[in-house]
Amino acid sequence: RKRIAVMTSGGDSPGMSGTVRAVVRQSIASGCTSYAVFEGYQGLVDGGEMIREMKWEDVRGWLSEGGTLIGTARCKAFMERPGRLKAANNMIVKGINALVICGGDGSLTGADKFRNEWPSLMEELVSKGMRTEDDVKPYKHLNIVGLVGSIDNDLSSTDATIGCYSSLQRICQSIDFIDATAFSHQRAFVIEVMGRHCGWLALMAGVSCGADFVFIPENPPTENWEEEMCNIIKRHRAMGKRKTIVIVAEGAHDRNLNHIHPKMVEELLSTRIGLDTRITTLGHVQRGGPPCAYDRMLATLQGVEAVKAVLEATPETVSPVICIVENKIVRRELVKAVQLTQEVAKAIERKDFEAAMKGRDAE
Ligand code: F6P
Repeated sequence: RKRIAVMTSGGDSPGMSGTVRAVVRQSIASGCTSYAVFEGYQGLVDGGEMIREMKWEDVRGWLSEGGTLIGTARCKAFMERPGRLKAANNMIVKGINALVICGGDGSLTGADKFRNEWPSLMEELVSKGMRTEDDVKPYKHLNIVGLVGSIDNDLSSTDATIGCYSSLQRICQSIDFIDATAFSHQRAFVIEVMGRHCGWLALMAGVSCGADFVFIPENPPTENWEEEMCNIIKRHRAMGKRKTIVIVAEGAHDRNLNHIHPKMVEELLSTRIGLDTRITTLGHVQRGGPPCAYDRMLATLQGVEAVKAVLEATPETVSPVICIVENKIVRRELVKAVQLTQEVAKAIERKDFEAAMKGRDAE
């Protein structure tokens, strides 16, 4: 009988609670025992009450809840081998032999490392007298499945991460509110949105709200972007537009990787065009709040698929990450997805923006 634990890790995202609900209920429906690890990897390292058995009704109503109701953390202890050894020990104490992790690329990389190290962690537990040979015998392999929860939509290999559409929706609503006041006063607004090193939220918000100009990290503006942006905005104003919206991704930079700060844009709009300009940093309202319908659906379908992947895994199976590609729920190789994502970051570092743009589409 499989004992499957689910955990959320890294930054929270809308839909994570629904993911936990789906994994718990599908595990129980498949005849497995379900556990939740509270507070991310920290809970795995601390063990005890932080790893709890979950019953069907424990996750009632979680589908529409924002954030993650089992908590999350960015855990330093798990990055070191002694922390992972404690985590492995705690899993054996609870009898857990499969782990479903919902998080970003960092959390998923940690998970795969844990799986690869697993046999040597078992040896160490025995050699240190923490467990007996008989204790570890049933735990030869650790079964890991990844689910991508992040508002940033920054993982290559999937079309959407759990939470990104809720965040985009929140950004669009906020821009709608700003639009009304901008229109009234004929003002310009520079709006900074989240996304870390990824421009998806900024770009899609720009498309969805009809922004005048958008700055994203993967495709920085031309060398003389100041002039280009001002000319475009002047043209829009000449056509009768009463408001100006410029969206800046928090990771935006120019072609020499100098950060483009909203303040720089504000100054340009005020001094060169004479627009009465304000800056709005949307911040964490983009991350909290209830998930939209799409994220609830993604959380449920992917949570179910994760349990199926656990049940079908053999010792030879490479760790999968559950993705959505062209509207189909699919499994991809976890390590490869993370590698492709890291290649985008590397392409940006070496200023190969064409490769960065292609990398975001990579399957
Ligand atoms: O990865 C999600 C995210 O919200 C990013 O968009 C942002 O850069 C970061 O997390 C903020 O992290 P924190 O909540 O730790 O400030």
